[in-house]
Formats: sequence, structure tokens, C-alpha cells
Amino acid sequence: MIYRSWLRAEGFTPEVFDGRPVIGIANSWSELTPCNVHLRTVADAVKRGVWQAGGFPLEFPTMSLGESLMRPTAMLFRNLMAMEVEELLRANPLDGVVLLSGCDKTTPAMLMAAASSDLPAIMVTGGPMLNGKFRGADVGSGTHVWRFEQELVAGRMTQEECVAAESGMARSCGHCMTMGTASTMACLAEALGMQLPGSAAWPAADSRRYVTAQSAGRRIVELAAEDLRPSRIMTRHAFENAIRVNAAIGGSTNAVIHLLAIAGRLGVPLRLDDFDELARPVPTLVNLMPSGRYLMEDFCYAGGLPAVMRELRDFLHNDHIGVTGRTLAETVADAECWNRDVIASLDAPLQSPGTGTAVLRGNLCPGGAVIKQSAASPHLLKHRGQALVFDSIEEYHEVAGREDLPVDASTVLIVRGAGPRGYPGMPEIGNFVLPRKLLQRGVTDMVRISDARMSGTGFGTVVLHVAPESAVGGPLAFVRSGDWIELDTPGRTLTLDVSDEELASRRAGWTPPQPRWSRGYARLYHEHVLQADQGADLDFLVGASGAEVPRHNH
Ligand code: FES
Repeated sequence: MIYRSWLRAEGFTPEVFDGRPVIGIANSWSELTPCNVHLRTVADAVKRGVWQAGGFPLEFPTMSLGESLMRPTAMLFRNLMAMEVEELLRANPLDGVVLLSGCDKTTPAMLMAAASSDLPAIMVTGGPMLNGKFRGADVGSGTHVWRFEQELVAGRMTQEECVAAESGMARSCGHCMTMGTASTMACLAEALGMQLPGSAAWPAADSRRYVTAQSAGRRIVELAAEDLRPSRIMTRHAFENAIRVNAAIGGSTNAVIHLLAIAGRLGVPLRLDDFDELARPVPTLVNLMPSGRYLMEDFCYAGGLPAVMRELRDFLHNDHIGVTGRTLAETVADAECWNRDVIASLDAPLQSPGTGTAVLRGNLCPGGAVIKQSAASPHLLKHRGQALVFDSIEEYHEVAGREDLPVDASTVLIVRGAGPRGYPGMPEIGNFVLPRKLLQRGVTDMVRISDARMSGTGFGTVVLHVAPESAVGGPLAFVRSGDWIELDTPGRTLTLDVSDEELASRRAGWTPPQPRWSRGYARLYHEHVLQADQGADLDFLVGASGAEVPRHNH
């Protein structure tokens, strides 16, 4: 009676207590997360499906992470959201859950929560915005922000023109419509088998987004009865499929960190080097910004992820079973590609195999680093230059506009202090804008190295996720301006041309930076965050706790 009575306050009739599955709808809707602002209406469609299939839906709010508004960076809070959703799933009497996400961090946070609680779950991402339009051309969210910023700094675009471009870039609800982190993680949720086939690409404004949501509502009721849990879906084979799909779609470098973190929750062995080894034979097929020219709406109409996965079938574990309960081979058997300009074939790929995200090793990054080759300038992938070092992104911004900055196009720009612990939260500043004087002379790219991340919508020859980060005493902390650095992407090395003895003596005089915050969640994060090559999760959140709440005697 105590459980039923208070729910009756919501006006439910007694049949909802007849033993039917109780389905949670975890909703990351928030007006502070513009990419997720339509998820209330998506939840309504999910509810229709749950009722139809004989379940009892109960929607509840979760923390939400808006990439564009949160400071110091939404990534600082990914683990907090994952922890919050995990505990909500465990603490409430749910038989299954539909996870509603959209903006960059909300999808991995919910997948991490689903992994650790291991409650039957289906993800429904909110879908991308419609294609951006400005002056008759397609413009991509994020990607064109960086482009227009460079044009503004170089004096080729006015402030008024930038303001006019803003609204054309965000024409509808939905997440970024480039192949940025949100689109990447939506596609990878599908590749992992946690979203219904085809779900990732339907635009947020398309009626079929709601058809997908309703279908997910119907399916979760069956899934709860079948007890098909995330740990049986997100297997090592699922992650291998996701890594190869990420290579084919030209996905975000952030996927590396998020997949490592999700796998860590499940005890699935996944190493940073897997991303290089598994992706190397896979060509880039999807022609989307920032690596290519189209946007998610085009990707959807061209056939979406099922068309990509069918084309990739020789590289995938086709017997993998996702939330549909069917094998991947069955799921994509009828998938067709309607536009080979957007989704290329294996015979004529957009970029040849081995041009996706590469993992670098060397004395500058003993724990590894990554570079997205498809978004870099080919002539800089092998480069030797002298370092110009900045201890923070703020320090760089202070001088980036100066005419006397000792820099030319061959300089290797280094920004440190931007790793998980150092910033804190590992912000997306790795593709920082070039020095103004070089932009004005027509330079469009330079080698940049940092322990930061890069927006999935970003581009440039940028080495990211250097581990260990400088704040914990990684070698990046000991580079000095004028040191020679060699980037050899084909050889997968990043070398600081300084002897071990010299590095040891520099280390001897080094003291770790003080944390910026001494209390609250930021302190917890600082004390427990893992390095980028381990997924930047909190060490005590690694692993699963299951769906059952421990029983206490009262
Ligand atoms: Fe939310 Fe890009 S800002 S997905």
C-alpha cells in the first residue's frame, strides 16, 4: 500500500499495479542544454510505446550537460551525471529504462550508468539539428564556428556577418549536425547495439524521430521481460564494432575516451591501442564535416548508420545481438545506400584505410596520445619543429594576437595544464585558433599538441589527450620553448628531442600545480580522475554494481 498509495496521487488507475513492467524514462531535458530541449516531447512518444506494449512508464529528470554553456567544461561533469543516473536506476523500482540523451556528454554518461546498473536499457538520442544554412550554403554547427572565428581574426569576415551566421547554423532543435561528438556517440550507441537501428540519424525535427522513440518504448517492455541486459549487449565484440564504425564515419576523438570509460564500467578489456589496431584496415566512408562536406540530415537520407554497417560487414562481428534481440546481420540485411556521395562504398572510399584516429607513442606521451588524421593537413602529419610552450590556454590567448610572438608556420604550439586533473575536466581547447599574424599571412594549420581534447566538430593537425598529462608530471610538463619535437603520424610516434638525463633534471625541479578548487565535486574529481588513456572516469566508479539495491534491516 505504501508504494501504491503515493503513486495514486499522480492519478493512475489501479491496473498499473497489476505486475506489468515499470519502465523508467530517464530524461536529460533542460533549457540549459539546447540540444536536449525537445526531449520532453520525445519522452511522450516513448510513453505511447510503453503503454501500447503493456508497460507502465514513469518519466524522471536527470542531470543535463550542455556542451556550449557549462564551464569550465561539460566533461568535468560527465562522471557526475553517470553516477547520478546509475544511482537513480538502482534506487527506484524499475524493470527497464529508456535513456534520452543528445548533447555530447549526455550520451556516454547514460551509457556508463546503464553499464554499471545493468538494468535492461534502450537509448534514444534526440537527433541532430536540420542542416545549417548561410548565404545559400550548408554550414555545420561547431565546424563553422571555428572557421568563422579564423576568418574574423584574419579580418576576412565582420562581426555582423558572424552574428547573421549564428541563427542559420541552428535552425531547429537537436544536437550538432556535423559528425561531432554528439552525432558520433549517437552512431556508436547504435553500433554498440544500445539504440534501435537507424535511430542515430533521424533529425530531431523529423516525425520519424518520434516513430523511433515510440518503437523504443514498445521494445523496452519486451527487453525487460527477456532480461536482455547491457552487459550482454556491450561486449568486447560490440566495442570492436563501435571502434571500426567510428573509423568509417570519421567520428570524434572524444569517442576514444568515452568508449574506454563505458568498457571500464563493464570490465570489458579495451586498450587505447585497440583504437589504432582495429581501425587501421577501415577506410573513412562517411563524407560529413569536419572530415568531409555533408551534414547529418544528408547522412540520414543516404541511409544512415545501417547503410554504413552493411557496407562494413566484412569488418564487423555480424552475429552481435543488440537491443532488437536480432543479430547485426539480420538487422542491416535490407539497409541500402541512397547517395554514394555521402556514404561511400568500400571500393571507392572517401579516405583510404589507416587515415582515421591514430594512437601515438613516444617519450612525450608514454601513456599515448591521439590525432585525427582525416581532419588534419596531410603535409603536417610528418613534421619536425621547435616548441613554443604555454602553461595554460589562457596564457596562450593573452599573446596569440601579438605581432612579436616568436612563431612561424613550422613552430609546434604546445598548451599544457588542460588534462583531466589539470584544468580540471580536460576541456575541448586542443584545436585552439592559430596566432593572428600567421592567419593574416594565410597560414591555415600548424601542429598543436596538448593534454586537452578537441571538439568533435574541430579540425587541424592537433595532437590530443597526451598522457600522462602535465599536471600529474607527464613529460609534457618538462618541454621548454625551443626544444625540437618530431611528429611522425605514419610511424605512430611523437618524440621530444631531449635526452633522458636532461628530462630527469627538469623533473627534479618541478612541483605539481595546486588544484584550482578545494571542495565539492571538483575536489572529488581531482582526487580520483583517471588519465585519458583509461577513459577519464573516476577510479571508484570503474566496474558495475548491478541493478539491485543492497537490502538493509531497518
Ligand atoms: Fe550539444 Fe554540440 S553543443 S551537441
